[in-house]
Amino acid sequence: MPTKLYSSIFPSIIFLSLVFLFLYSTFLPLYTNNHSSSSPAKKFLTSPSSYCNIFNGNWVLGSTKPRPFYDETCPFHRNAWNCIKNKRDNMGIINSWKWVPKDCSLERIDPKGFLSLMRNRNIGFVGDSLNENFLVSFLCILRVADVSAKKWKKKGAWRGAYFPKYNVTVAYHRAVLLARYKWKPKQSAVSDQDGLKGIYRVDVDIPADEWINVRDFYDVLVFNTGHWWGYDKFPKETPLVFYQQGQPISPPLGLSDGLQVVLENMVHYIQKEVPKNTLKFWRLQSPRHFYGGEWNENGSCLSDRPLEEHQLDLWFDPSNNGVNKEARTLNHLIKEALQGTDIQLLDLTRLSEFRADAHPAIWLGKKDAVLTWGQDCMHWCLPGVPDTWVNILAQLIHNILETW
Ligand SMILES: *[C@@H]1O[C@H](CO)[C@@H](O)[C@H](O)[C@H]1NC(C)=O
Ligand SMILES: *[C@@H]1O[C@H](CO)[C@@H](O)[C@H](O)[C@H]1NC(C)=O
Repeated sequence: MPTKLYSSIFPSIIFLSLVFLFLYSTFLPLYTNNHSSSSPAKKFLTSPSSYCNIFNGNWVLGSTKPRPFYDETCPFHRNAWNCIKNKRDNMGIINSWKWVPKDCSLERIDPKGFLSLMRNRNIGFVGDSLNENFLVSFLCILRVADVSAKKWKKKGAWRGAYFPKYNVTVAYHRAVLLARYKWKPKQSAVSDQDGLKGIYRVDVDIPADEWINVRDFYDVLVFNTGHWWGYDKFPKETPLVFYQQGQPISPPLGLSDGLQVVLENMVHYIQKEVPKNTLKFWRLQSPRHFYGGEWNENGSCLSDRPLEEHQLDLWFDPSNNGVNKEARTLNHLIKEALQGTDIQLLDLTRLSEFRADAHPAIWLGKKDAVLTWGQDCMHWCLPGVPDTWVNILAQLIHNILETW
């Protein structure tokens, strides 16, 4: 019967087309490489990292895993993430899990080798406190190769270090929405019923001052945004209001549409204004692990082991509508905005989704912190999971620079 035939052939055709597309897109870069110019953007595509997916794998508990490069004495620590100092339980076990990618090998960063490779170059992180978390891990690891490292806070940086032996700067620029935003208190008390106290004006087409002028200074840039795009940060009494070309966008955009427009504009700006030779990464969402409620509803993360693979969708799939669904929802928008650009995805979401055991939780270093803020099931203990992010970023940078 024609319909039956159709229904059995049609899926095969789709399948074969997908296989063809996959093979085509996988091997095309190899061929273009043979005739390639010296354009770094092209060579970017040919980095070995694109042959295997370093972000797909499992955490394996191993006695062979070397001890972390640093401890509670690293001078770049932020107190709330310094879990050894704050006497968090299980720090030994937390750092005994090793990320093992399925089809490729992940080397541990060699701080000396890496800083030598980066000599006279600079690495910048731009985004929210999860990128700061990432940075602190990076600084503490690199310091092993240069203990004369000094704190560095120029050019609008929020936190950073200079490594004199190698003439390398690594710093974080705090720009939680990436776009510029400013508090504007309400002008008159005429209509007070709505409870509006003022607005945060977001200029979707203007990058935040904190990083607008550093685009030429860095050779590697790692962007992120995401954790501030929620109604807990911007409730209806103090909402975000989006402006374009100096005028309020009409009709007004909600958070999700606002994020989409900001992403489009920032990605466009990066493509246009950041020098072509700069390596550009975008770190996808770092997942939270609140269990039993949000951060302000006694949500907790006192798990003593990583989640099992079969638990991940239960925790994070948006269709389950759980408190931790937003990472994947945001990733979807971010990936869409980055399509067709030379900004490389640092897709750390899934590997981090496993690690419900590795947040500061109740060990925040201050007596009343949990009562005031709830548990921290969002940032990561250091040493901890971001050390693995550093290994991955270092390996990707290494692969790319080696082929230049
Ligand atoms: C240090 O690196 C910067 C680039 O980041 C370069 O302009 C400068 O000349 C270098 N300084 C030395 C002493 O090599
Ligand atoms: C959180 O726990 C405290 C103490 O157990 C309790 O008083 C409070 O009602 C709880 N809050 C929520 C939102 O469940």
